[in-house]
Amino acid sequence: MKYKIAVIEGDGVGPEIMNSALEILNTLTLPFEYIKLDVGYKKWMETGEAISQGDMDILKKCDATLKAPLYTPSSKEKNFSSVTLTIRKELDVYANIRPIKTFPGISPFTGLDLIIVRENTEGLYSGVEHSVNNGAVTERIITKASCEKICKYAFNLALKEGRRKVTCVHKANILKKTCGLFRETFFETAKDYPSIEAEETLVDACAYKLIRNPSSFDVIVTTNMFGDILSDEAAALTGSLGLVGSCNIGEKHAVFEPIHGTAPDIANEGVANPIGMIMAASYMCNFLGFKNEGEKIRKSVTEVLKEKKNLTPDLGGKLNTKQLTNKIKEVLIQKYLIQ
Ligand code: IPM
Ligand code: MG
Repeated sequence: MKYKIAVIEGDGVGPEIMNSALEILNTLTLPFEYIKLDVGYKKWMETGEAISQGDMDILKKCDATLKAPLYTPSSKEKNFSSVTLTIRKELDVYANIRPIKTFPGISPFTGLDLIIVRENTEGLYSGVEHSVNNGAVTERIITKASCEKICKYAFNLALKEGRRKVTCVHKANILKKTCGLFRETFFETAKDYPSIEAEETLVDACAYKLIRNPSSFDVIVTTNMFGDILSDEAAALTGSLGLVGSCNIGEKHAVFEPIHGTAPDIANEGVANPIGMIMAASYMCNFLGFKNEGEKIRKSVTEVLKEKKNLTPDLGGKLNTKQLTNKIKEVLIQKYLIQ
């Protein structure tokens, strides 16, 4: 039996880093069958549809999705809406897990190991917006059910991973209704997990503390946009946005992707950092039950990055995407595959 993996190559540097991730996966013997889907902005320009119902059905039938970044223009351009967000909502992958771990030798902070759990389907990214006479309104939708699900997810993850603390990040002093509900639900949920410390911090203070004292965090749980912003900030602590992968998890589906964007400025130059994409692929291995394989990939990445000469330009190095991928492959084969 083979696991069906939907593959979205994405835009910008997407195809280059996806290529690396698939090459790493193919180095291992995994029962994966890849189904490539052509979705996104380019598809929309060509056909008027960024993702079809047929594509969505395939995504839903697959055992997991491996996804590179997709481009979304910031201009109001013909109401094009983000395919990434559409997929997250449609597959109801409500928990976006972003592990922020420093790699020895390259990260400005040592020993940092925190997990950001971001609510992934509502909040300010609800997609509900309208114009009013003097401007525009975006609805920040927060439901009790989603708060319960994401807070439970964070505490269960903390238990599973042997973590000591979950920090709820909010702005309930100002956003009394929406963040208020999130905060209240967090503390209600916390009662069921007496062995885990439950702490809260305001989002602005969290942004500050992440720079001043990042090791004070363990697991962070927060709403959609705060999680989006804080995870980019936290990624800077690892040395590069290009190093972080993520999992989007729901009851029925799961999507694995790097947290960065399409990086159009370096697209097609072959110099993008593939690690975030490779980390995402490694998390997919864990999710599908191939824990040893996931672990081997991450160990090989860590091993390769230890050497300052093995870095892509985002980390001040000179290696290109292919060369770095080959180094990881070499370590994977020599250290973990040849018995
Ligand atoms: C991310 C990205 C996405 C988001 C964009 C591409 C829609 O920034 O995964 O963090 O806002 O969630
Ligand atoms: Mg983001």
